[in-house]
Amino acid sequence: MRCSKCLLCLSALLTLLGLKVYIEWTSESRVKAYPEPQGTLPGPTATSAEPTLPANLSARLGQTGLLPSAYWNQQQWRLGTLPSENSTEPGGCQAWGAAAAAEIPDFASYPEDLRHFLLSAACRRFPQWLPAGEDSQVASCSSTNVPYLLLAVKSEPGHFAERQAVRETWGSSAPGIRLLFLLGSPVGKRGPDLRTLVTWESHHYSDLLLWDFLDVLYNQTLKDLLLLTWVGQHCPDVNFVLQIQDDAFVNIPALLGHLQALPPTWARSLYLGEVFTQAKPLRKPGGPYYVPGSFFDGDYPAYASGGGYVIAGRLAPWLLQAAARVAPFPFGDVYTGLCFRALGLVPRGHSGFRTAWPADHTIDPCTLRDLLLVRPLSPQDTIRLWRQLQSPKLKC
Ligand SMILES: *[C@@H]1O[C@H](CO)[C@@H](O)[C@H](O)[C@H]1NC(C)=O
Ligand SMILES: *[C@@H]1O[C@H](CO)[C@@H](O)[C@H](O)[C@H]1NC(C)=O
Ligand SMILES: *[C@@H]1O[C@H](CO)[C@@H](O)[C@H](O)[C@H]1NC(C)=O
Repeated sequence: MRCSKCLLCLSALLTLLGLKVYIEWTSESRVKAYPEPQGTLPGPTATSAEPTLPANLSARLGQTGLLPSAYWNQQQWRLGTLPSENSTEPGGCQAWGAAAAAEIPDFASYPEDLRHFLLSAACRRFPQWLPAGEDSQVASCSSTNVPYLLLAVKSEPGHFAERQAVRETWGSSAPGIRLLFLLGSPVGKRGPDLRTLVTWESHHYSDLLLWDFLDVLYNQTLKDLLLLTWVGQHCPDVNFVLQIQDDAFVNIPALLGHLQALPPTWARSLYLGEVFTQAKPLRKPGGPYYVPGSFFDGDYPAYASGGGYVIAGRLAPWLLQAAARVAPFPFGDVYTGLCFRALGLVPRGHSGFRTAWPADHTIDPCTLRDLLLVRPLSPQDTIRLWRQLQSPKLKC
């Protein structure tokens, strides 16, 4: 009698233990699976190729039911009905962050980088970083030399080898192609002072767009927004802009072939890449890409992975207008997805964009020939692949 009770107790304990292991395992695999596609989002169904920005963004961004109390959702509700010109914060850009800190009950428990992001998230105008007494080293697109495709590579000051590998391989000069690197300040917070080296590089190659903000992951959206501003002012007629990380490899001929074959209505409003639909925020404190429930409630919009995606150049001013009315979000690619959704445009997926190539699978040149973009790669692998691809002996 007593022993059967023991047995019951033991089996209950074992079941609980099993359940705990299972829950931990599923939350682990969710982290690894970010950002896993999971079906299609009931987003904007309009297939119109023309961007529009309605006076009230709430319906576009799915804010129709009961409004959650999360800070982002509340801010978006307010911002989504303001005219663009009224959307700058009264009291300067720091006000948004200060208000967020005061209004989010568990702000103090947020990870440090998220707290830093929120405190300065509304500060989006930064001057270019220039070596003392210099003008910009980067030339505007001249009217006689408008690129078809601008390669806008997000790098960071210390990534000298990554940039050089891109210059010597897929980013090497070709008709209709322009290469630029997007960087924050070479004066890091705790890192070495890279001013002299970056200044030399900027003089030598004239392909660095540098801005005076801290170059950290959660400041990537600044690179997107400042790039769009630059494109609007200095290269407004570029057909396409590829926004990409410096550890990617692009099959330029295949990408050009694909772009040139697009139906004109798609090309006009292009947002192309590896598309995730119905990705959800990760809720594991301490895990990567953690988003607290008190900050954001809901699913992510359909978006193209930030590893590399192509947009139509003419959308630059539209995206900037949308960004003025979409509340700041820490992940650049999700934020871009939100801005496109605000404009009523949908991302187009292409299976040739492979932005999370498994580390235990090497990429061989024959596989790459059928892809448009793959990452991450070391500078050494980039050089190796390039040489193999150029070799007349390559047989696939
Ligand atoms: C904006 O649209 C939402 C959803 O359609 C609606 O509930 C809300 O009242 C609108 N806001 C304004 C200020 O018109
Ligand atoms: C927007 O700004 C204009 C001019 O600065 C002002 O007259 C108007 O009341 C503002 N609208 C809102 C909704 O704050
Ligand atoms: C982004 O850069 C700005 C300006 O340098 C800085 O104030 C802010 O803290 C940075 N953001 C993060 C998340 O560190």
